[in-house]
Amino acid sequence: MLAILLLLLLICLHHSMVSAFSSLTPGFYSETCPSAESIVREVIHRNIRKDPRSAASVMRLQFHDCFVNGCDGSVLLDDTPTMLGEKNSLSNINSLRSYHVIDEVKEVLEMGCPGVVSCADIIVMAARDAVVLSGGPSWEVKLGRKDCLRASQEDANVIMPSPRQNAPNLIELFRTFNLSVTDLVALSGSHTIGYGRCFSVMHRLYNQSDTGQPDDHMDEKYRDMLDGVCPINGDENVTCGLDGTPFDFDNRYFKDLAQLKGFLNSDQDLFSGKVDDTKELVRKFAENEEDFFRAFAEGMVKMGDLQSGKPTGHRKNCRVINKNEAFIFKNYHHGRFILQT
Ligand code: HEM
Ligand SMILES: *[C@@H]1O[C@H](CO)[C@@H](O)[C@H](O)[C@H]1NC(C)=O
Ligand SMILES: *[C@@H]1O[C@H](CO)[C@@H](O)[C@H](O)[C@H]1NC(C)=O
Ligand SMILES: *[C@@H]1O[C@H](CO)[C@@H](O)[C@H](O)[C@H]1NC(C)=O
Repeated sequence: MLAILLLLLLICLHHSMVSAFSSLTPGFYSETCPSAESIVREVIHRNIRKDPRSAASVMRLQFHDCFVNGCDGSVLLDDTPTMLGEKNSLSNINSLRSYHVIDEVKEVLEMGCPGVVSCADIIVMAARDAVVLSGGPSWEVKLGRKDCLRASQEDANVIMPSPRQNAPNLIELFRTFNLSVTDLVALSGSHTIGYGRCFSVMHRLYNQSDTGQPDDHMDEKYRDMLDGVCPINGDENVTCGLDGTPFDFDNRYFKDLAQLKGFLNSDQDLFSGKVDDTKELVRKFAENEEDFFRAFAEGMVKMGDLQSGKPTGHRKNCRVINKNEAFIFKNYHHGRFILQT
């Protein structure tokens, strides 16, 4: 009897899990959780008032979630004894933050509409709201994502770009996600809000010549400032604005790049590197904020469409997978279930 029940359970979950590509639509929760979007907006707003930087930190989560096996909430999973997640990967450790903001959204949503809104969708709504509340553009978000059942530190290590990258590397990376050069430059404009650590610029400041790219692409006064904020052997956790107005979603980032005041090598190389297309786009977005806003919104929607096709489930708590799904997942191999008890 127990075995039959278990089998039925497996079949049910099997069906929900192998429909791995969800079709995404605006208004996905209009019947099941009509106030989902306004709840997310409200919690994000409250958190930005407490910690203005959380706008940037929350928006960044979409990039780090979607690039690693699709927008599936993988970035939110804590490590377990049997799984190293993405939080301690090279790009995320001591850097990605404001996970608690997503937890807070999830808690409120689970009270109002239990079991309905995925963590992956929360990230995408929250990212949009963080941009709007910082003075940036708005866009319609497509919803209906499901949450993954595992995360991979190794995948995050391999995929996420280092700030030492140059424009050709970044173009290639974005191309693997079907994102264009315009998407790359516009989405890099996310660095119009937020902060980076000295850790991310030490190599550029003091060791760049090792890479055969002598860095004379820096405004002299800006360099003096950075030398002061990030001295050799200084505290690499000290942070610096990624552009001159780190709380305003505007086109200042591009104006700064055009004046050789970009913080990260990966940013400055879009203007100072070898690729004419990225240089042109930086100029265009520096001159026309509306063009930037339009391209940014388009890029965020495209990035939000990335999916992995891997088994999915539902999470009550964005940091852990539900117990029954943990059991099922352990027994799921190559598209079929093998019971190992
Ligand atoms: C193009 C390749 C990219 C590279 C190499 C890159 C790299 C970085 C680095 C190194 C930092 C600073 C981290 C630290 O020092 O702790 C950072 C911060 C940030 N990144 Fe990116 N990034 C890229 C693209 C993006 C994209 C596409 C988005 C979002 C759409 C994004 C959003 C952010 C935000 C908002 C911050 C500031 C976060 C905060 O203040 O907490 N980045 N990025
Ligand atoms: C990119 O587009 C191609 C062709 O449409 C498709 O086969 C591929 O799966 C897409 N890649 C991603 C990561 O979406
Ligand atoms: C510069 O590079 C050398 C050799 O790779 C390394 O030992 C040193 O720690 C680096 N210094 C900084 C400031 O990154
Ligand atoms: C930066 O802070 C983290 C945690 O807050 C700490 O583990 C790390 O050692 C610090 N790094 C440096 C270079 O001080």
